[in-house]
Amino acid sequence: MEQNTFAIQSILRGELPEDELLICLLDTFTDSEAAILRDAAQKKAQETFGNRVYIRGLIEISNYCKNDCYYCGIRRSNKNAVRYRLSKEQILSCCKSGYALGFRTFVLQGGEDGYYTDELMCSVVREIRENYPDCAITLSLGERSRESYKKLYEAGADRYLLRHETADPEHYKKLHPPEMSYENRIKSLYELKEIGFQTGAGFMVGSPGQTAAHLARDLRFLCELQPQMCGIGPFIPHRDTPFGDKAAGTLRTTLFLLSVIRLLLPKVLLPATTALGTIDPKGRELGILHGANVVMPNLSPSEHRADYSLYDNKICTGDEAAECIRCLSLRMRSIGYQIVTDRGDYQA
Ligand code: 5AD
Ligand code: FES
Repeated sequence: MEQNTFAIQSILRGELPEDELLICLLDTFTDSEAAILRDAAQKKAQETFGNRVYIRGLIEISNYCKNDCYYCGIRRSNKNAVRYRLSKEQILSCCKSGYALGFRTFVLQGGEDGYYTDELMCSVVREIRENYPDCAITLSLGERSRESYKKLYEAGADRYLLRHETADPEHYKKLHPPEMSYENRIKSLYELKEIGFQTGAGFMVGSPGQTAAHLARDLRFLCELQPQMCGIGPFIPHRDTPFGDKAAGTLRTTLFLLSVIRLLLPKVLLPATTALGTIDPKGRELGILHGANVVMPNLSPSEHRADYSLYDNKICTGDEAAECIRCLSLRMRSIGYQIVTDRGDYQA
């Protein structure tokens, strides 16, 4: 306990405790220890963002993926997945309705789908940039070449999300097939940052085989990379994957990590994710109260919502974007926060 107090004091100062202390804390934290970090994280988020929560319009452009990650429902081996991809016109039409709803950030997310060549993607980005000069464009399209990232940046994309998934190379191998490389993932993140993207890393909480030591490495990696955004959410099994019978990550550990990340990276843009809202009906509200400051309602065409199924029981798959906004506004209001419609850029 003495030890945990030490670790907590260090986190409250914004410093990562030494490994042994950090691992012990992650393994043994009590509810009252978690409450100390929650209170401090909530306060820290309010110092920077007040009671304002940023919204990002998530457009799931394709569920085709050349990868075969063991946890993911849209992995290429999942023959039950009903595949779709959005055309440029469909993506632009999502942006149009999103803009009218007040979104000033569009997140174009998809599997690693060769259909979206640099040429096509850059033309989509350029057109969004022209039509909506006041909006931020975030891409989340997996690993591409450095040249590709550069072209997309020059076409007008501002941000790129690429979760590292786990910062432990051995654990990475347990979550991914042999053809996927931990080194390349990490290299991509540094390239994105160097090119000038506001860059997002992140990981799943409670993924199969994950230990406190792995989580400690994730935190250490975040402190080193200093990403502008960080996406974390619980692992949730998908029935048609090799991890279909594994246990989901817990609300408790995810909330604890949100608090720790807020304290270690005070300005980071930190979403209360859909996965968090999926494992608990109040997950996203709790996420905000533990230091998160972003929510990402879905803007994808409703006919494809359910097909972008990374994990089972994903929420909001039957709702129109307008309903999601209304629902989230009410949810945020219920805890004393309000959704705001600015770009919500990272402020160094
Ligand atoms: N449970 C929770 N999150 C998942 N992701 C993929 N599959 C799952 C799952 N089964 C997350 C990954 C990916 C992001 C888009 O969704 O972290 O980077
Ligand atoms: Fe989509 Fe509540 S946020 S229905």
